[in-house]
Amino acid sequence: MLSQIKDIASNLAPRLIEIRRHLHSHPELSGQEYQTAAYVAGVLSSCGLHVQELVGKTGVVAELPGANTDLRLLAIRADMDALPIQERTGLEYASHQPGIMHACGHDVHTTVGLGTAMVLSQLGEPLPGTIRFLFQPAEETAQGAGWMIRDGVMEGVNAVLGVHVFPSIAAGSVGIRYGALTAAADDLELVITGESGHGARPHEAIDAIWIASQVITTLQQAISRTQNPLRPVVLTIGQIQGGRAPNVIADQVRLLGTVRSLHPETSAALPSWIESIVAHVCQTYGAKYAMNYRRGVPSVQNDPALTQITESAAEEAWGSDRVQILLEPSLGAEDFSLYLEHAPGTMFRLGVAAPDRPSYPLHHPQFYVDESAIVTGVVTMAYSAYKYWLSR
Ligand code: NI
Repeated sequence: MLSQIKDIASNLAPRLIEIRRHLHSHPELSGQEYQTAAYVAGVLSSCGLHVQELVGKTGVVAELPGANTDLRLLAIRADMDALPIQERTGLEYASHQPGIMHACGHDVHTTVGLGTAMVLSQLGEPLPGTIRFLFQPAEETAQGAGWMIRDGVMEGVNAVLGVHVFPSIAAGSVGIRYGALTAAADDLELVITGESGHGARPHEAIDAIWIASQVITTLQQAISRTQNPLRPVVLTIGQIQGGRAPNVIADQVRLLGTVRSLHPETSAALPSWIESIVAHVCQTYGAKYAMNYRRGVPSVQNDPALTQITESAAEEAWGSDRVQILLEPSLGAEDFSLYLEHAPGTMFRLGVAAPDRPSYPLHHPQFYVDESAIVTGVVTMAYSAYKYWLSR
C-alpha cells in the first residue's frame, strides 16, 4: 500500500505544484474564501467525491466512501485562508492580490488535503473506512472551525488528522509532537476607573494610569511566583489607552492583551486568577475595574494513539532520520483544537525549509515553501489515514 501511495503521489507532483501555485497566487482573507472554495470543490468533484459547498460559511466538505461505511469515520482537515500581508518573495507565482498573502502555508495545507483525496481515490480499491475531508475557512481569525462544527461536520467522526507547515524543519522531513502542540489563546480587556484631578494634587485623585501600571507589574510578577513554571503562562498587554493631558490625572485606562497557556487546568483557572489580582490591586488604591475575558481557542492536545499512527506512517515512508519528535510545543494558537473537543486527533508538522534559501518564519512577507514538501505531506497524510483502520 505504501509504495502504491508513494507512486501515485509522485506522479501527481507536477499537478499538486500547479494547484498550490494557483492557490498561492489567488489568496483570500478569512471568511472570504469564495474563489478558493469553488476551486477546491472543483478538484474534489473531479476525483469523484461527493462535495458539499458553503459549509461553515465558505467551507467545503467531501466524503470518500470506504469499503465498509460502518467502520470508524476519519476526518482530515485543511485550512484555506490567507493573511493581510503584502507579499515580498518576488516569486513568479506570488500573490496577485495586493496586501493579501498565503504567509502561513494554508495554500500547502489545502493542496495536501486535495492531494490526499486524489491519491486515495486513485487506489485500485477503496480504503476500509470512510474519510470526510474538511476544508475550513477563517483559521487565522479562529472562527472557521467553530463555523464548520456548528454546521455538523463532526457528527459521526471518530478521529481527525491535520497538518501545519513548519519552516524550522527541512522539506522532506516531518515533525511529530506528543501532547500539547499549540497554546490556548484568550483575549483580555480591563477597564480601570479612578478619579480625575490636578497633576500636582495626587492625594485628591485616584490615578488610573499608575494603578494600571501596578496591575500590569503585579500580574507579571504573580506569574513568576504563583504559576507552576512547568505549565507556562504568557500574558501580554499589547494595547493601553488612557489620559488626556500631561498635568491631569487620568480617570480611566483600558488595557487589551492576550493570554496563552498550555495546560488545560491552568487555562481553566486563569480568568478567576487574573481577576483576583486585578481586584486586589484596584481595591488597595480605591479604583474600580471591569474585566472582559474572552475565551479563544483551547490548546491543541495531540492524541497519543493517533500521533503514534502518524509517526509510524512517516517513519515507514521516509525513514526515522526524516521524522523529528518535537520536544517543545508552540505558544501560537490553532483552531484545530475545537475539532478535538468532539473527537481525538493529531496534527503533524510538515517541514518546508529549502536547503538553498533562508528560512523565514510563518506570517513573514518573504515566507517561502520548498514545494517538494507537498508530496511528503500527501504521502504522510494518505498513509496515516490508511493505517488508521488497521489500528486497534
Ligand atoms: Ni496557520
